[in-house]
Amino acid sequence: MKTVVLGSAGQLGRDLCPRLSGEVVALTRADTDLARPDGIRPVLEKLRPDVVVNCAAYNFVDKAETEPEAAFATNAWGVRALALACRDLGCTLAHFSTDYVFGLDESRQKPFTETAAPGPVSVYGLSKLAGEYLVRTLCPRHFVIRTCGLYGVWGSGGKGGNFVETMLRVAGQGKPLRVVADQHCTPTYTADLAVATAALLTTDRHGLYHLTSAGACTWHDFAAAIFELAGVQADLSAITSQQFGAPARRPGYSVLDIGKYAALGLPPLRSWREALSAYLEERKK
Ligand SMILES: NC(=O)c1ccc[n+]([C@@H]2O[C@H](COP(=O)([O-])OP(=O)(O)OC[C@H]3O[C@@H](n4cnc5c(N)ncnc54)[C@H](OP(=O)(O)O)[C@@H]3O)[C@@H](O)[C@H]2O)c1
Repeated sequence: MKTVVLGSAGQLGRDLCPRLSGEVVALTRADTDLARPDGIRPVLEKLRPDVVVNCAAYNFVDKAETEPEAAFATNAWGVRALALACRDLGCTLAHFSTDYVFGLDESRQKPFTETAAPGPVSVYGLSKLAGEYLVRTLCPRHFVIRTCGLYGVWGSGGKGGNFVETMLRVAGQGKPLRVVADQHCTPTYTADLAVATAALLTTDRHGLYHLTSAGACTWHDFAAAIFELAGVQADLSAITSQQFGAPARRPGYSVLDIGKYAALGLPPLRSWREALSAYLEERKK
């Protein structure tokens, strides 16, 4: 089996490539730029993969509010070209999406299943939702995998690191940390997501999946757990999203129900706290 991975130099791509079985061809933006859709098909025609995994995305959640064209160019129109090429070459396309396709339902307090109606509240979320629909509509052999709050040892290129490292760095500088306590979600360790994705790809159970660590917390809870597990004293306080004042709106509740994946009998995802503990051990290496 031959698998081509787009976005292989990103946070998730780097953890996923070594966990895939068979031949893996790791592509970066220099090989295929999703924002230049005409270039995608020739590359895939030459490589003739069985599976394409798209870890590439425009991930600047705040910047997308003022440059929607750039977000849509990569997350929707580039993904459309990729889905069409995969369909025509008869290969499976695995594509990652986000919990930010939710948020419009402000009264929500129960995890979203794959059948729940999405409703994004940001340009980024909307561009990712468009990408999801394009994959699901155009490429019959697809896995669309929604995930949430990724952190991994490589850090996100788009975000210049990851939340855990930012917290530890700022606390190490002795500065106060004000972290939002009104966004409920599930931070997810990319190494665990990579293992689950690799397992899912061994099946032919195509479709839409939610894959995150188990459980839920707020970013403030997560920050508190980071400091507790790392044994670090920090000046941490809780604030609201309004007080934080980010340019893009985030969902107040975007916890994803991972029951559909679990029902396949594949290796379960551990709790966010156990995963965080494993990450903190891994980063020491
Ligand atoms: N990070 C999160 O918290 C989070 C949460 C939910 C869902 N997701 C989704 O999970 C997936 C992986 O995210 P990640 O955290 O691994 O992202 P990441 O670390 O920012 O990596 C994204 C990769 O995509 C590449 N890329 C960006 N624009 C491209 C383009 N036009 N053509 C080709 N490559 C391009 C980037 O290359 P350059 O380095 O050259 O820019 C980078 O290597 C994405 O679909 C994302 O939307 C992420």
